[in-house]
Amino acid sequence: MQTAPIKPLKPWFQVIDDVGASIVWSEFFGNDNPVELDIGCGRGLFLYTAAQNNPDINYLGLEIDYREGRRTAERLKKQQMQNARVIGGDGNIVLTKMIEKYSVSAAHVYFPDPWWKKRHHKRRIFTQQFTEILSDVIQPEGHVHSWSDVAEYFEIIKSLMDGQPNFETLPPPEARDPEHDMDYQTSFHRKKSKLGLPIYRGLWQRKAITS
Ligand SMILES: C[S@@+](CC[C@H](N)C(=O)[O-])C[C@H]1O[C@@H](n2cnc3c(N)ncnc32)[C@H](O)[C@@H]1O
Repeated sequence: MQTAPIKPLKPWFQVIDDVGASIVWSEFFGNDNPVELDIGCGRGLFLYTAAQNNPDINYLGLEIDYREGRRTAERLKKQQMQNARVIGGDGNIVLTKMIEKYSVSAAHVYFPDPWWKKRHHKRRIFTQQFTEILSDVIQPEGHVHSWSDVAEYFEIIKSLMDGQPNFETLPPPEARDPEHDMDYQTSFHRKKSKLGLPIYRGLWQRKAITS
């Protein structure tokens, strides 16, 4: 059976091994603009919209599912977007091994996989260790945004982030009615909102570095 050739998507999509051991943002994006991460970017609605609306901010999506990551990158390539890229691979590896400390101005983690079964909870991305990793990469006054439709998981995210001594809890953004079908934060936001599910929103700010 013949398989379709993989379309070249560099620099919009690269896997961890293509990028190398560490990322120097000014080389990666070709400028010194602030960098925001979309961890688990999925189909990339947030990445695409945010990058289009904020041309002076660089956006990097991290997506473990290469198919989703490539699909997002195809859209970025089509528009020749210069301030948005996707890295295919485990976001935890990128955050812990490839990113300079305190070099990121925001991390967005929208609708992280809830892993419903209790025995699978350990696969959830939000853990105490993950909040420590976020506090290592986010610069002072930078933000973490996380939304979910799963009350029980959001309570855990909130309690982990509220209890993280390096972050201050801020009031989350107000819900607003979307004006059109693309006017949602992410694809999951659209899907869950259309099902009438409640959307829980969290926002935290990195405190000053004390030591
Ligand atoms: C429920 S989907 C949400 C996608 C998107 N944020 C949205 O709101 O539409 C969660 C996404 O996180 C990705 N993901 C899960 N664990 C990840 C990890 N360790 N690193 C990068 N992506 C991850 C999944 O492949 C999936 O695309």
